[in-house]
Amino acid sequence: MKEKISAIEQEITAEAITNGEQLEQFRIKYLGSKGLIKALFADLKEVPNEQKREVGQLLNGLRTKAQEKFDSQKEALENQDQEEHKLDVTRPGDAIEIGARHPLSLVRSEIIEIFNRIGFSVSEGPEIEDDWHNFSALNFPPEHPARDMQDTFFIEKGEKEMALRTHTSSVQVRVMENSQPPIRTISPGRVYRNEAISARAHCFFHQVEGLYIDKDVSFADLKQTLLYFAKEMFGEKAHIRLRPSYFPFTEPSAEVDVSCTICNGKGCNVCKYTGWLEILGCGMVDPNVLEASNIDSKEYTGFAFGMGVERIAQLKYRVNDLRLYSENDVRFLKQFTGGI
Ligand code: DAH
Repeated sequence: MKEKISAIEQEITAEAITNGEQLEQFRIKYLGSKGLIKALFADLKEVPNEQKREVGQLLNGLRTKAQEKFDSQKEALENQDQEEHKLDVTRPGDAIEIGARHPLSLVRSEIIEIFNRIGFSVSEGPEIEDDWHNFSALNFPPEHPARDMQDTFFIEKGEKEMALRTHTSSVQVRVMENSQPPIRTISPGRVYRNEAISARAHCFFHQVEGLYIDKDVSFADLKQTLLYFAKEMFGEKAHIRLRPSYFPFTEPSAEVDVSCTICNGKGCNVCKYTGWLEILGCGMVDPNVLEASNIDSKEYTGFAFGMGVERIAQLKYRVNDLRLYSENDVRFLKQFTGGI
């Protein structure tokens, strides 16, 4: 028995363990429930009584030795494992793909910056709007065609009419209702119209509304403000022209063209050989509109304007199909840089 024990002891010392598989084999062979040491303990009952104590001690020693070897080898293997997977700080990093800003966001930010520089704040209003803010307070007569289902997406008809706003002029009304002149604000936002989607029309698009109300605001102020905008947006060479027009909420009203940014006014297929491109609508705020929002039209005058962001982006980036803005084609979107 003693010889067996010392033979196994030598065997244990000689065992080479270099991987998890060998470690497990070692455990089964020596420490397992059907292992060698367990078997020796079973044999202990055949050992003569006077030797039992000594042999028992030897067996305990053997078991401790096997257990210690198992523990130390296990730890060594775990350390080795960690060593192998250690972070290599000298490895070049994986490139992180950075997205690009949407062209409409770039243009909107630029418009905001241009007007911020001359003291316009930014205001916003809800996209789901009531009849009062979208139409009535803006002097739309009850039978005006814009109130027709064909142009407007109604959410609720009848007593309390709610619709997706058809223009950002609704925000003008909200600002006037909630503040007193002087008011100098622009309102960027999304608007909706019940139109078939094509290259030139979409059921949603973006506008920036402008409103300036104070004592003695004149049409000359409007013209000068828009000229400043056109030059900041399209370059020092840009000119503007105003054509008489009609909007229910302004009197007089005008549509504004900017000299074609592509041919510099000489005539090309973008400006249809006119040398001019329409960019916005504007006018002096109708006294009825001021009064509807409790602003004294004898004391105050003001101008307003509204421009389409897609239209400005089209001229700036020469995008000729409105659908591209909302199709999320990465090949289109990543062409526009401007920082994040
Ligand atoms: N709301 C007009 C539209 O959606 C644009 C507009 C025209 C806004 C004249 C104005 C304005 O503030 O004075 O087409």
